[in-house]
Amino acid sequence: MERDRLERDRRIAVIVGAKRTGKTTLARHLVDRYPGHVIVVDPADEWGELGVWPVPWGVRRRDALLRWLGELTAEGRGAWEGLLVLDDWDRYVAAVPGESWTDLLVANRHLGIDVLAIGHRPQALPKEALANADLLWIFATRERRARDALRDIPGLEDLEDAEIPTATGEALAVDMLVGSRVRVTVPFSAQD
Ligand SMILES: Nc1ncnc2c1ncn2[C@@H]1O[C@H](COP(=O)(O)OP(=O)(O)O)[C@@H](O)[C@H]1O
Ligand SMILES: [Mg+2]
Repeated sequence: MERDRLERDRRIAVIVGAKRTGKTTLARHLVDRYPGHVIVVDPADEWGELGVWPVPWGVRRRDALLRWLGELTAEGRGAWEGLLVLDDWDRYVAAVPGESWTDLLVANRHLGIDVLAIGHRPQALPKEALANADLLWIFATRERRARDALRDIPGLEDLEDAEIPTATGEALAVDMLVGSRVRVTVPFSAQD
């Protein structure tokens, strides 16, 4: 049991795409199937009791986020294990220095944390986060600069505009380890 826990491979997954293209819907689908503890950083308050917003009223965003990230990464394995979802990451990514996020992304395997980072402008996310992703889901992305930022990711230099979906609920699922790119439709029901 302990051995399984220690040897389980931890992943970094990134979802990008314009606003209202289905990113959170896919994240819910993945969270429902995740066999462990889940915390969602949820600035838009869309996740009910799974969601947290670690910035108490009256505390500066930077101070609150640095403290929260420090607690998550400093205590080492065992403090907390599971899936950390950074939904609407664009909204708070720039509030702390980029190294604070990359520390988390570099240490995630050692800490026992899977990370699912979600953003609408890839050019606003730390380059290391995109470069270290094991899995990437690309939703509709119309902005030229956003598409160019995707082509800056090692392994995606040849990404063609025609491969990028244009409809809500459609994604290009990229497995960075295998190098595969598959078009997927996110399962959706009206209650979602
Ligand atoms: N596969 C789909 N088909 C139709 N509508 C969808 C699908 N996925 C999501 N939606 C709807 O599109 C809207 C935006 O979805 P959401 O997942 O919140 O987008 P994002 O997180 O990218 O802003 C929501 O109203 C959602 O219910
Ligand atoms: Mg969303």
